[in-house]
Amino acid sequence: MSIVLKSPEEIREMRTACRLAAEVLDYIAPFVQPGVPTAEIDRLCSDYMTKVQNTVSATLNYAPPGYPPYPASICISLNHQVCHGIPGPKPLKKGDILNIDVTIVTPRGFHGDTSRMFIVGDASILAKRLCQVTYECMWLGIAEVRPGARLGDIGHIIQRHAESNGFSVVREFCGHGIGRGFHEEPQVLHYGRPGTGSELRPGMIFTIEPMINAGKAAISELPDGWTIITRDRSLSAQWEHTILVMESGVEVLSLSAANPPPPKLIGGPLASATNAAIAALPPAPVS
Ligand code: MF3
Ligand code: CO
Ligand code: CO
Repeated sequence: MSIVLKSPEEIREMRTACRLAAEVLDYIAPFVQPGVPTAEIDRLCSDYMTKVQNTVSATLNYAPPGYPPYPASICISLNHQVCHGIPGPKPLKKGDILNIDVTIVTPRGFHGDTSRMFIVGDASILAKRLCQVTYECMWLGIAEVRPGARLGDIGHIIQRHAESNGFSVVREFCGHGIGRGFHEEPQVLHYGRPGTGSELRPGMIFTIEPMINAGKAAISELPDGWTIITRDRSLSAQWEHTILVMESGVEVLSLSAANPPPPKLIGGPLASATNAAIAALPPAPVS
């Protein structure tokens, strides 16, 4: 039961792994269009990982205790699906919102994990607001990260922002430590009380990945053993970054050239440093 601090060497490896995961999202973004089956998006991402990046999917055949092997290279969660949606033959349609969640493993065995929301064509005002507020939730959580802060500070600010906008936080899934392991300690809850939970220390690497529902927080699992949906069939959104706790605060590791900038409610040095980091990255190679 301990949170392992990463060495400088491991941190360098994780910067690469997380950038590569983000570049899969950059690559796939133009293909997210009406009429495209989600299985096609999965196939394109799989080819990009293995043929362009020399990475492999961490999700393909992933089988934690009690789960059947996950059958795809990415997760695609559409509309009222919360997470772990399985790509399939059904084409995207205008007005859909979807999360694409990418976890890759580098040849040296390090995991990078990140996800974004995509809007197909245009969506309802509610759907767009849910995506935006969820993005703000993730970034507000990131902005709490510094040595001496606690995990509960992250959860609290995410919960407060979601609920003050009339939305709810999914309780059953959380962020996680990551490195040579896909899911390491700690568990990073997206709700909680300030000043509680483990204290953050430089060298910790973990994800922040809030799942926010437009309706109630309750979820159900589909018979496929993976897909999680909102019990009330309300829309759900999620964004995910992998971050490093630095002496000076936080570094977002899963940035890429086409990463959206931090939202307006994040200002100061974090926003400037993030925008400068995004601008300095070369575009993801094309296949
Ligand atoms: N990438 C997800 C996460 O953020 C986990 C997906 S596991 C899968 O932790 F098997 F569903 F792909
Ligand atoms: Co994750
Ligand atoms: Co993920």
